[in-house]
Amino acid sequence: MTLLPQRPRLGFFVSHRGSNMRAIVSACKAGGLNAEPAVLISNNRNSAALVWAAENDLAHIHLSPKSVSSEEALDQAHLDALLNANVDLIILAGYMRKIGTKVLSAFSNRILNIHPALLPMYGGQGMYGSRVHKAVIANRETESGVTVHLVDDDYDTGAVVGQAKVPVLPADTPEDLAARVLAQEHLFFSEMLIRIVSGEINLDDLG
Ligand code: GAR
Repeated sequence: MTLLPQRPRLGFFVSHRGSNMRAIVSACKAGGLNAEPAVLISNNRNSAALVWAAENDLAHIHLSPKSVSSEEALDQAHLDALLNANVDLIILAGYMRKIGTKVLSAFSNRILNIHPALLPMYGGQGMYGSRVHKAVIANRETESGVTVHLVDDDYDTGAVVGQAKVPVLPADTPEDLAARVLAQEHLFFSEMLIRIVSGEINLDDLG
């Protein structure tokens, strides 16, 4: 893969709320993260993320299996949207589908995901959102956390870029833990991106 430019253009994939995307866009606007939000792609036409993008002048596109003829066509439509927006780095921030093979090979080692637990624990298909936090509490873990990792063709199995730990308190409900982890996600994803953009972390050494 070619080197990242000094100010990479970010392509976001988000399915629902988009609070991680908003935190990253804020870090770009505040100047701490030298990157350019370029486009948001969502599979959910009613997502809060799409509404926010429309209100905040971020290019956005709804693409779902229902809006095209096949998974292959969806993969190609994703690739076209990313190339049209000159995206350098893809950010999965609460995206609940797999990325297709065309995008994976065109953006090898250039797709990052955030997961609300310490992978490889509490990952894999079906492990997302509150299910993760319920499982962590059910197993009486004393710590959980956040993982930023490269994306491959399976769920949550790509090389880990970085992890941050978060305590699990004895009285935590899944909602309490989710809120504590999410607050850490909002800081940690931008921190990882700052280190990637500065060259301190080389994604090609990990993938
Ligand atoms: C985040 O907690 C993220 O880690 C999780 O979905 C939430 C999205 O929140 N992702 C997964 O569980 C992926 N397996 P957001 O839309 O407000 O950023």
